[in-house]
Amino acid sequence: MALHRLFPTRIYEEPLKVSGQASLMERLLRECYQLRDVDAAGRAWSRRNYPGGYTSYGSLDELFRTSSNFEALKRGLDRHVARFAKELEYDLRGKTLEMSSLWVNIVPKHTYHGLHLHPLATLSGTFYLQVPPKSGAIQFEDPRLASFMAAPPRKTSSRAENQPFFRIQPKPGQVVLFESFLRHEVLQNQDSEDRVSISFNYHWN
Ligand code: NI
Repeated sequence: MALHRLFPTRIYEEPLKVSGQASLMERLLRECYQLRDVDAAGRAWSRRNYPGGYTSYGSLDELFRTSSNFEALKRGLDRHVARFAKELEYDLRGKTLEMSSLWVNIVPKHTYHGLHLHPLATLSGTFYLQVPPKSGAIQFEDPRLASFMAAPPRKTSSRAENQPFFRIQPKPGQVVLFESFLRHEVLQNQDSEDRVSISFNYHWN
């Protein structure tokens, strides 16, 4: 039997692995909370668009240009993005994949982030700084879901590749990358401690 497995969806997950990572993560965590304290425009944006949490997405989304800690993180992320792009066999036609935005997310108890994708970007991802045990997983949706019309549901015991959703319960220090068209959501944080992460986009130009 010839069974062709085509049109795969790739989600990359690896530890960051940069030198001095533990102290970099400590400095980044401190800086995330400092940003929340000083970023009144971001807090106002978050009240409207990110209820219960804080994100600098609407106010300070190029942190790698202004902070040495975020710049150090970017250098580590660039290496992972290059590996992922190689795996995807992109033909970049002489152009490069460059980080275009990077922002902070602080998600307290009972907060979640609904289903979305990252328009206008090529690759997107998140680096996890603080992930308490009961804070939410990131859940990805099969990008073909809207095309499934009379398709039967899949057995709950089916292989991950046949499921319509895939969850990652991230660990601190972990990098997750995906193509920006892939819809995803962050499930509710049910832990009393905040979930703190740094998200980013790469453009092809
Ligand atoms: Ni996202």
